[in-house]
Amino acid sequence: MARGTLPRDLAGRHVVISAGGTREPLDPVRFLGNRSSGKQGYALARTAVARGARVTLVAANAALPDPAGAEVVTVGTAAQLREAVLKAAGDADVVVMAAAVADFRPAAYATAKIKKKDGEEPAPIALTRNADILAELSTGRPRAGQLVVGFAAETDDVLANGRAKLARKGCDLLVVNEVGEQRAFGSEDNEAVVLGADGSRTAVPFGPKEALADTVWDLVAARLPTGTE
Ligand code: CTP
Ligand code: CA
Repeated sequence: MARGTLPRDLAGRHVVISAGGTREPLDPVRFLGNRSSGKQGYALARTAVARGARVTLVAANAALPDPAGAEVVTVGTAAQLREAVLKAAGDADVVVMAAAVADFRPAAYATAKIKKKDGEEPAPIALTRNADILAELSTGRPRAGQLVVGFAAETDDVLANGRAKLARKGCDLLVVNEVGEQRAFGSEDNEAVVLGADGSRTAVPFGPKEALADTVWDLVAARLPTGTE
């Protein structure tokens, strides 16, 4: 799509986007991670810049070039991502949580590399919960009228799981992807349905992640309060 034809409907707005996947360290050389490439979050950042927004991109372990015109804050763990997003959200009009945030982290961090021992079975890895940043943002709303957008990857019962997750998180919009071995993770294309807390449902056909990003911004722009600047 030619960027020049896009509306500058995010001019004067501050948008915060998280992207990538967190890594939760187990010892100095190992971590628990996930397969998020960061491509969808980076596409959201590029398209938001093109539509005139001031963009803060909180990037977790994404090996992608910085989007021109965005402020990029790099983080590693879910705790670091939470801190960076909450800080940037203070004066944001919109926060989009496109990052895959680890639900759990190792309960203990070994400061020295864990070694195997002859004849011994490995010790189980105990996990502990990470904070739910999206739920916290949705409840907190540091700025009146701030919009909060979540992403959900589901493998089955996509719509029912999406509706339940939207209600549980309390966000305004939830972008629901169906994922499987060949879908969404790492690919250039995406297919999704965007569910609104107002009951709306917008299907986004299989296509480039930029197209999904622009649909998200269309839905956001239509819901932003006017005349508050
Ligand atoms: N998310 C978050 N903080 C977490 C986990 C998830 O902010 N600790 C956000 C993600 O960035 C995403 C949304 O919540 O925008 C949904 O993530 P998902 O993993 O689908 O939801 P969960 O509530 O973790 O549910 P599940 O048990 O299906 O993983
Ligand atoms: Ca999760």
